[in-house]
Amino acid sequence: MIELRNISKSLGKNKILRDISFSVKKADKLVILGPSGSGKTTVLRLIAGLEILDQGQIFFDKKNMNNVVPAKRGVSMVFQDLALWPHMSVWENLAFCLNKQNKTKITEMLSAVGLEDKAKAYPQQLSGGEKQRLALARSLIFNPKILLLDEPLSSIDPLLKDNLIKLILDLQKKMWITMIYVTHDQAEAAQIAQQVILLHQGKIEQKGSLIEIRNNPNNLFVKKFMGVK
Ligand SMILES: Nc1ncnc2c1ncn2[C@@H]1O[C@H](COP(=O)(O)OP(=O)(O)OP(=O)(O)O)[C@@H](O)[C@H]1O
Ligand SMILES: [Mg+2]
Repeated sequence: MIELRNISKSLGKNKILRDISFSVKKADKLVILGPSGSGKTTVLRLIAGLEILDQGQIFFDKKNMNNVVPAKRGVSMVFQDLALWPHMSVWENLAFCLNKQNKTKITEMLSAVGLEDKAKAYPQQLSGGEKQRLALARSLIFNPKILLLDEPLSSIDPLLKDNLIKLILDLQKKMWITMIYVTHDQAEAAQIAQQVILLHQGKIEQKGSLIEIRNNPNNLFVKKFMGVK
């Protein structure tokens, strides 16, 4: 289980997150929804340990993570810009994540994301969707307990998007992963998870299912963002 308790974070002079609290059960899923600049990426970076908290606590399975380095957290993150290694082939991008070469595992992962024919290609030779599948494969190859996805399908056409969402949900279930999925797209959120957190200017405006939020918006911002008339 992941639990954030009263998290606050400033970057420079800006207060980026204010008093954020939420939890996700083991092997469950949560969507963080919110407009650009609301602090979604910052929440993920704090969970991954890539930023240090100003206030509050993060727990994984009741263990306080505040002083645990990123590599020891069992967290994998797909970054908004994917951050693939451009000088490495598809195969090498995956192999580099493993301590020991494990051909079977790499082959299995490539086939899980449908990239078995692209093992020798370099990232710049891949389409947008293929790059996103590679980023996903790379994030899953070391069996993370927690998967953080930062708008992983933002540049994908609708048809492929549906396929990739199915793939993500399938792998998350099979591998028993706790997943937090960031998006600003309600339709995508609805496909991913029941539980949603709506962020705005670094604060949680509302928590619940999309239907609950739409039917009972807490305030005018929520109403507008959700497009409730
Ligand atoms: N290193 C930094 N220094 C100062 N401010 C920052 C820094 N990084 C992010 N910010 C600010 O923090 C706020 C939240 O940024 P964040 O990237 O978490 O938002 P986001 O919800 O992921 O946005 P987007 O949907 O555009 O990716 C923004 O106003 C941003 O300008
Ligand atoms: Mg972001």
